Amino acid sequence: MSAENATFYDTEQQIKSKQRVADHGEVFTAEREVNAMLDLVKQETERIDSTFLEPACGTGNFLVEILRRKLAVVRREYFPRRGSCHDYELHAIKAVMSIYGVDLLQDNVEACQTRLFTIFDEEYTSVCKGDASDAYREAVRYVLTQNILCGNALSMMKVDAKGQDTEDFIVFPEWSFPRNDSMVKRRDFRLDVLLKENGDEDNYDTFSLFDDDAMNLDLWEEDPVTKEMIPKPIREYPLIHYRRIAEHE
Ligand SMILES: C[S@@+](CC[C@H](N)C(=O)[O-])C[C@H]1O[C@@H](n2cnc3c(N)ncnc32)[C@H](O)[C@@H]1O
Repeated sequence: MSAENATFYDTEQQIKSKQRVADHGEVFTAEREVNAMLDLVKQETERIDSTFLEPACGTGNFLVEILRRKLAVVRREYFPRRGSCHDYELHAIKAVMSIYGVDLLQDNVEACQTRLFTIFDEEYTSVCKGDASDAYREAVRYVLTQNILCGNALSMMKVDAKGQDTEDFIVFPEWSFPRNDSMVKRRDFRLDVLLKENGDEDNYDTFSLFDDDAMNLDLWEEDPVTKEMIPKPIREYPLIHYRRIAEHE
């Protein structure tokens, strides 16, 4: 097997155990099917900041391929030509920031974060070589811990180590670059509220068991331009350089 395919090797085994299939419907999608499905939205998979959320991401078979495709574009467009890795770093972290996942099982979440980090790091090290920085690697690792979460995509609650719902909602950060420079703005949103806005009502009702709570007026605000009600962040953070985002903790 080539190094390029190595990240898929573990999950070519589509089943970990019969028990996990029975308990959680855990059957991973094979690489060929992943690529065929992603090709249906090829343009989006090759847009650096297009957002993807996989609500039962397993160990990340879809998400790693999406990241691989986005990073190929970053390499093509922002390969450091005059020595500085800054533009490459900025766009590579934007690619990572655009990918979100939820899974019920902690070991899958950790495997998914590790696979995404490994793909990013192999690419970053190969592009930036001696200029690659550990502080930047840590920033990317931090983004993955915030974007790939252990939770129940049906109830929209975080789960404990046994996969049981806790009292905490799944909360995802939105990362943006409002000044078009190196400074990142983070705003956190509840997933159930985000899906309430974006989802088709009928689909949403089958998705969330916490419908009424998601309609709590404190979680919505009026868009000053369109006057429509839009999700309100539950937390906002000051602008910070992309290499320092982990310092928000
Ligand atoms: C069929 S596997 C698919 C994994 C991955 N999407 C893929 O295609 O390789 C289903 C995954 O959903 C997870 N899962 C099952 N119920 C879930 C729930 N209520 N919320 C989040 N994840 C769930 C399982 O742990 C498993 O990893």
